[in-house]
Amino acid sequence: MDKSIIIGNWKMNLKINSSQKLIKDIQRNLSKKDFNCCEIIVCPSNIHLESVYNKMKTKISLGCQNLFWENDGAYTGEISAAMMKNINCKYAIIGHSERRNYIKETDEMINKKIRACQNNSITPILCIGESAKQRKDLNTRSFLKKQILSAYRGINFNNFRSIIIAYEPIWAIGSSNPANPEDANEIALYIKKLLINNYKNIDKKTINILYGGSVNAKNIKSFTDMNEIDGSLVGGESIKPAGFVGIIKNSYK
Ligand code: PGA
Repeated sequence: MDKSIIIGNWKMNLKINSSQKLIKDIQRNLSKKDFNCCEIIVCPSNIHLESVYNKMKTKISLGCQNLFWENDGAYTGEISAAMMKNINCKYAIIGHSERRNYIKETDEMINKKIRACQNNSITPILCIGESAKQRKDLNTRSFLKKQILSAYRGINFNNFRSIIIAYEPIWAIGSSNPANPEDANEIALYIKKLLINNYKNIDKKTINILYGGSVNAKNIKSFTDMNEIDGSLVGGESIKPAGFVGIIKNSYK
């Protein structure tokens, strides 16, 4: 993609008023050029999706941070992909390392969620990434391969508008210690080759690999300057209007 993709993951932050204020502040500072050069997606807390959407007056797209794989039924506390679609979510973050860690989300659950996204025309943003120990033991690539192949098991890529994978090394998230851009670029290339070699019907042009982990307005360009990195999934800086807008403006390909 020629445009960079910048996604704000608001995580479990902000109440209703501050969520609405944030989306207004972000939009106020964006220009036509920003939308021409950048695909912008915000993922507020699930409970504020609708109220944030109601304040959206620009081409920013809405994404959720999680969803459940069944469409409806006796699944107390869960929210389905069909429900997310119904309130205008075009994207869903799937398999974030915080959910894999705290909620014990497994590769099998992630695969079901990817399928639910596909069945409801939601673009999944698949998160993958190695731990510090796996990195030290030189297991990064085999671990990422396992995460990708199990997440996409049985998936037919024919009707994917966009395949988005966020490579987020766990040790880099919220740490002020981002990955080296060259290393992240090599991993992005590895992921692209892996997808092309394993899924015959994949359209290369639809593949987008993002980097995530301690990205800010100062370092974003060092990542998007890399040939294989198509944008970023941003956590901490995405809930600061100046931080997020700065990342967007500095991310042009
Ligand atoms: P961070 O989080 O930007 O705060 O490191 C990234 C993420 O968890 O998606």
